[in-house]
Amino acid sequence: MTKVISRTALIITLTTLLNLSSKAQEATISINSNGDNHIISRHIYGQFAEHLGRCIYDGFWVADTMKVAKKDRIRLDVVEALKKIKIPNLRWPGGCFADEYHWRDGIGLRNQRPKMVNTNWGGVTEDNSFGTHEFMELCSLLNAEPYIAGNVGSGTVEEMAKWVEYFNMPGESPMANLRRQNGRDKPWKVTFWGVGNESWGCGGNMTPDYYSNLYKRYATYARNYPGAPLKKIVSGASEGDYNWTEVCMKNIPRNQMWGLGLHYYTLPIRNWNGSKGSSTQFDEKQYFQTMKGTLFMEELLNKHAAIMDKYDKEKQVALVVDEWGIWTDVEPGTNPGFLYQQNSLRDALIAGTNLNIFNNHSDRVRMANLAQTVNVLQALILTKGRQMIVTPTYHVFDLYKVHHDAKYLPIQVTSPDYEMENVKITSVNASASRDSTGAIHISLVNINPNKNIPVRIALDGINWNSVTGQMITSAKVNDINTFEKPNTIQLAKFSGAKKEGNQLVVELPSKSVVVLELK
Ligand code: AHR
Repeated sequence: MTKVISRTALIITLTTLLNLSSKAQEATISINSNGDNHIISRHIYGQFAEHLGRCIYDGFWVADTMKVAKKDRIRLDVVEALKKIKIPNLRWPGGCFADEYHWRDGIGLRNQRPKMVNTNWGGVTEDNSFGTHEFMELCSLLNAEPYIAGNVGSGTVEEMAKWVEYFNMPGESPMANLRRQNGRDKPWKVTFWGVGNESWGCGGNMTPDYYSNLYKRYATYARNYPGAPLKKIVSGASEGDYNWTEVCMKNIPRNQMWGLGLHYYTLPIRNWNGSKGSSTQFDEKQYFQTMKGTLFMEELLNKHAAIMDKYDKEKQVALVVDEWGIWTDVEPGTNPGFLYQQNSLRDALIAGTNLNIFNNHSDRVRMANLAQTVNVLQALILTKGRQMIVTPTYHVFDLYKVHHDAKYLPIQVTSPDYEMENVKITSVNASASRDSTGAIHISLVNINPNKNIPVRIALDGINWNSVTGQMITSAKVNDINTFEKPNTIQLAKFSGAKKEGNQLVVELPSKSVVVLELK
């Protein structure tokens, strides 16, 4: 039987199909001003500096003879750049290095400090010229809070207890007196305190049962001194090791832990024992895989947080993602133990995406540390001799600083897919907050390298009149800043957002990070 379709019915059907298909190409976001009242901790924007490759030595801490502005041997151009993006905390001295570090080797007259071998990172000789006092000076110049990772793997309970006393005891005591002998009278009042690092791996290859018992011993003697109650952080799980989180949450009393760590790196090729993929030479297929890998952070946080919820319904314990970022092969010709990699627009999209994920989990995630600040892994800053450049990732941290300690605004995102060989990932991710002046900030990432995406944003219960924006993008996802061309990727004004009624309509460029301000 032939079915006759009227002309009007045909037009209606076609229009509906067209609408549906254009809706499928559009992202919709709804932001709610009611409900959740928590703050996005600025400590989510924390950094990590290990004695690894050229991060400390020849990064922050340079030769006496280098002709750059310095305080002691701390490079001030690096400090100034980091101050601009307001880094809230700096984790130190590792990483794997932390569990081989003996703090007493890094105090006193520099020429009398014992040397050691940095067995984890290239087997180079560590001269201990950068130690406790130098790190604390760096933090004070940066106006950043120190986050110390104490040695559990090869250090003693006494050694850790005495380091805390050295940092924080105000009155007379053996360690406070030693600190004074070394030129510092007042205690520093350090509060963020990591008890070991990757204790399941380079930090001692322990089981979670064994580590959590040991944790309680170390944590017991890491004392609170006046004005410096420690925020103790449990060495957390690797990636999807949910059992580690479960056992630590079960065994360690809430009053002995401020936070529980989690480490997750994005690898273009998920292969810890071979090539991980280049930081600059990659095709779209590898780009897609990498972005899919970075979006896995969402699942990790949901699952680790759900376990924490079982033991800590009030969310007293912070989930601390104290190592994250992209890990690629090193730059050709550089020491494989130094983890020096370039940083492309892809990395900026990774940073924007992960920071959005952290913001959206900020009821539980109250601290995170990008690995690592200078010249190592997903660095904010690269240096070569006297030259210094900031990376695309740096610009994302600059853009997102508006979220520091701002009020979290619940958000729902519906996004078109980005598809490759029948695998789909979401193109657009976002987060939003309201700062202390009442301004609303929305950070948007479009990871699709080929398509601009129209975004329609409904703001429930929020009055606003004007919108301005800034963005980062570039012609190709593997574009980079180099010492010859340091500004290929930089912040630019964004004028693709407008008000339509009370809705915000945005044309979000392909492969871009955009931050909008509504007033
Ligand atoms: O950030 C580099 C290394 O990665 C750290 O030292 C270690 O904790 C992790 O495996």
